[in-house]
Amino acid sequence: MIPAILPTYNRAPLSFVKGEGAWLIEADGRRFLDLGAGIAVNALGHAHPRLVAALTDQAQALWHVSNLYQIPAQQKLAEMLVAETFADTVFFTNSGTESCELAVKMVRKHFHDAGQPERVEILTFEGSFHGRSSAGIAAAGSEKMTKGFGPLLPGFRHLPFGNHEALQSAVNDRTAAIMVEPVQGEGGIRALPDACLKGLRDLCDQHGILMILDEVQCGVGRTGRLFAHEWAGVSPDIMMVAKGIGGGFPLGAVLATADAASGMTAGTHGSTYGGNPLGCAVGCAVLETVCADGFLEEVRRKAGLMRQALEGLVAEFPGVFAEVRGAGLMLGLVCRAPNTDVVQAGYGAEVLVVPAAENVVRLLPPLTITDAEIREALARLRKAAASVQADAA
Ligand SMILES: Cc1ncc(COP(=O)(O)O)c(C=O)c1O
Repeated sequence: MIPAILPTYNRAPLSFVKGEGAWLIEADGRRFLDLGAGIAVNALGHAHPRLVAALTDQAQALWHVSNLYQIPAQQKLAEMLVAETFADTVFFTNSGTESCELAVKMVRKHFHDAGQPERVEILTFEGSFHGRSSAGIAAAGSEKMTKGFGPLLPGFRHLPFGNHEALQSAVNDRTAAIMVEPVQGEGGIRALPDACLKGLRDLCDQHGILMILDEVQCGVGRTGRLFAHEWAGVSPDIMMVAKGIGGGFPLGAVLATADAASGMTAGTHGSTYGGNPLGCAVGCAVLETVCADGFLEEVRRKAGLMRQALEGLVAEFPGVFAEVRGAGLMLGLVCRAPNTDVVQAGYGAEVLVVPAAENVVRLLPPLTITDAEIREALARLRKAAASVQADAA
């Protein structure tokens, strides 16, 4: 018999009833150190007082109004994002997948209206992840996600990650855009080197095509800058955002330049909940916190601490781990043992990490994790690694 919940997830037998900062409390009282943060969602940890206040204050006043009307919190958040980024304009969604959908539509409409309707093709990279909608799975293109779901949305070409020649020869007069994650999350915490991101920007400029960055997982302070592409000193035409921007409330956004967004006029796109007062009140509180003086500096300092500690862990358990990679507080431990064994052993040691492709375990702690919690995380990861090593012996 099919379970009451459609069985699309492999769930761990853990049921959390409360969250406090970097901690999740299980129904039986055990306290888990959360280095997954809802897969980069709880950017400010669980039950951050500022977010709780923003949500509850808004909840007392007004939960929802349609986008038929002005929404002051949405206006405020859009203006903040425009002030802090390359973008001239913002559309709010409820998730990363919906941000992907709009990014694809925006690109096609841009070229349609520019009198180049043949430009519909978007170049993407193997190992990427852009969501589970029809456009999202077609964009990523992996067999694991697409098998059985055909016919797929046409217009995507998948290129090997980091192969410049393949990319250059793939661009033609049907190419509309390149879509890429500055740091692949699901793909195994693979950071695109700054030089590659610059090269992609140049290629786009050379051919008059649009650059879409998917910062759903790596954005909102995760790498120690507000958005990961800032490290490379380049900016996209369109950027997909979600996860951290809502700090746990379902909120996403598409940021764009005026030119890229020029086709998106009244009636061309919409969302019932996207940009709703509750989500935007929380989004404003997240963004104000992350953009406050010193916050990102602290993220960078703690990222250095965490990385150093993880390098030590890899050196101590060479049979379990091969290397550390990633950027800021978006770190991956490339495993020699099966990554799922490490995740499982983490449950035993009461520390939560997340598996990714390429036999990687991901560490995406709340950006507010303290030095003491980083030390505690290492003690627990050491315990987990020792148990994996003992099982393998
Ligand atoms: C890079 C990236 N893009 C898009 C998505 C899809 O986001 P959502 O699950 O919010 O729809 C994800 C989710 O993991 C992601 O990591």
